[in-house]
Amino acid sequence: MALSGLANKELILFGGKGGVGKTSCAIAAGIELSKASKTLIISTDPAHSISDCLEQKIGNRIQPIQGVENLSAIEIIADEAFREFKEEHDKEIKSFLDTSTNLDDEDIDILLDLSIPCIDEIMSFIKIISYIEKGMFKKYVVDTAPTGHALRLISSPKLLDQLIKVIVKMRWKYRYMISRFSGSSQQDDMDTLLLNLKKTVKKIERLLCDSARSEFIPVCIPESMAILETKRLISALNTYNVKVRQMIVNNVIESEGCSFCKEKKKSQLKYMEQIGSYYNDLNRVVIPLFPSEITGIEKLNQLRILLFANMLADEKGNRMMMANMII
Ligand SMILES: Nc1ncnc2c1ncn2[C@@H]1O[C@H](COP(=O)(O)OP(=O)(O)OP(=O)(O)O)[C@@H](O)[C@H]1O
Ligand SMILES: [Mg+2]
Repeated sequence: MALSGLANKELILFGGKGGVGKTSCAIAAGIELSKASKTLIISTDPAHSISDCLEQKIGNRIQPIQGVENLSAIEIIADEAFREFKEEHDKEIKSFLDTSTNLDDEDIDILLDLSIPCIDEIMSFIKIISYIEKGMFKKYVVDTAPTGHALRLISSPKLLDQLIKVIVKMRWKYRYMISRFSGSSQQDDMDTLLLNLKKTVKKIERLLCDSARSEFIPVCIPESMAILETKRLISALNTYNVKVRQMIVNNVIESEGCSFCKEKKKSQLKYMEQIGSYYNDLNRVVIPLFPSEITGIEKLNQLRILLFANMLADEKGNRMMMANMII
């Protein structure tokens, strides 16, 4: 099996347990998609590794990827994105806190310096939506951090929505007082900011739940803990109405050349059967364990061919060649 149905998707997210191959698969998929469309790979993992994987410094600004036309990448630093957001909306936020709380200026500054739970994930999605709206790219491939973070990322629209509701409630009290004293109250910049954030939440939710536009692809390896974590991930995605259609099973040993491989393959077979029985309704893309790490464009291209093998009839020869050198 190969990854399929991504040609018309705008947003493709890769997620799973730590170290299972999310970053490698996300970049390899980005390389494939960039052949037809301008593609941006976005890392939302605070422990970014796309620079290491690509052997090219990426960082917090969109960078073209050397050696691959139509492909760029960015490693979002959520703290920085939040700082920029606060700077941009400093006036509205401060005036809101000033009118809706009893905090003085110093307390407000301290409060704004505190980190807000899940703000990393919220900021990541606000950034992703802003890229999509600017329309600079046709496709966005997201390399997420291990499962917990990915789930918070998916739940971030709901969290942001709850945060907006609390703020609106606080504002409503302030509004009520103003209208009691002055007889009227006009919409201000904070209302506009809240309205725009609310629109962003709706856009993110609509995009994530629209299987014609977006897709979440779990990456798993044939080991018990990874399988359990994938189960939790897929059922959590279901609760957010994000339907999983296909998954990648990575690091599968093909050779039985030595006693270690034989043993390892035997243990993997048990888990491969488990994966098969749990996910018989999903398209399962099996990727063999490479003899070395997957870093640099050449190796990422080998992974790409394996991931999209069925779609690349002319590269079948390559697949055969690679299969021979794989463990
Ligand atoms: N099929 C494979 N064969 C051999 N090595 C692999 C394979 N897939 C990934 N790797 C290697 O395994 C390591 C982890 O891969 P990767 O960084 O893609 O995983 P990850 O899920 O993104 O990890 P993290 O959770 O830390 O972000 C890397 O060194 C990568 O080169
Ligand atoms: Mg990674």
